Amino acid sequence: MKIGFIGLGHMGAGMAASLLKAGHEVSVYNRTRTKADKLVAQGAKAVASVSDACRSDAVITMLANDDAVESIVFGEDGIIDSLPVGATHISSSTISVALSERLAAAHAKAGQRFIAAPVFGRPDVAAEVSSSSLRAVRRTRSRPRHRSSPRSGRKLSSSQIGRRQPIS
Ligand SMILES: NC(=O)c1ccc[n+]([C@@H]2O[C@H](COP(=O)([O-])OP(=O)(O)OC[C@H]3O[C@@H](n4cnc5c(N)ncnc54)[C@H](OP(=O)(O)O)[C@@H]3O)[C@@H](O)[C@H]2O)c1
Repeated sequence: MKIGFIGLGHMGAGMAASLLKAGHEVSVYNRTRTKADKLVAQGAKAVASVSDACRSDAVITMLANDDAVESIVFGEDGIIDSLPVGATHISSSTISVALSERLAAAHAKAGQRFIAAPVFGRPDVAAEVSSSSLRAVRRTRSRPRHRSSPRSGRKLSSSQIGRRQPIS
């Protein structure tokens, strides 16, 4: 799978390395460029902008906080502007519920998919989790973009479907 990875801090670097080991094609972007060097040596492609990282089936963000995620997602040439229709943003940072809901709404409006996949535990544990989020992406990609809620019968958007999938 073609994956963009944004945020190569303590957690993100291990997650991106794990995706490379699993055989994915990973483009990495980090505000401080030098943090990509070790991953490039492991086979990642370093890209110069958020929009370049978004030329992917899925882009994963592992950023410090709400402010960082907001600027990367909603900023000029950010993820909302750049991610192709039908591609998925997996947000693994610890962010507020309000921002997560705003992301779900904005991605749905842009025709993109959104999965909130916050990570618990230490960096070594995070390195194991990224692959399971991608299994959820594969499941949502193979389904129709809308289906009915089993409880209410009302249609769910693709981002809601993504959020409601158990990530295992
Ligand atoms: N570390 C843990 O044990 C742990 C455990 C559970 C959850 N988490 C959560 O995981 C997330 C990442 O944690 P971490 O430990 O990997 O943090 P970290 O090492 O401090 O890395 C933060 C990342 O966010 C980037 N960043 C920060 N502000 C930015 C901005 N305004 N614009 C663009 N990029 C920005 C940093 O870029 P630079 O390299 O340029 O600074 C870096 O790539 C956080 O939400 C944290 O709460 C962490």
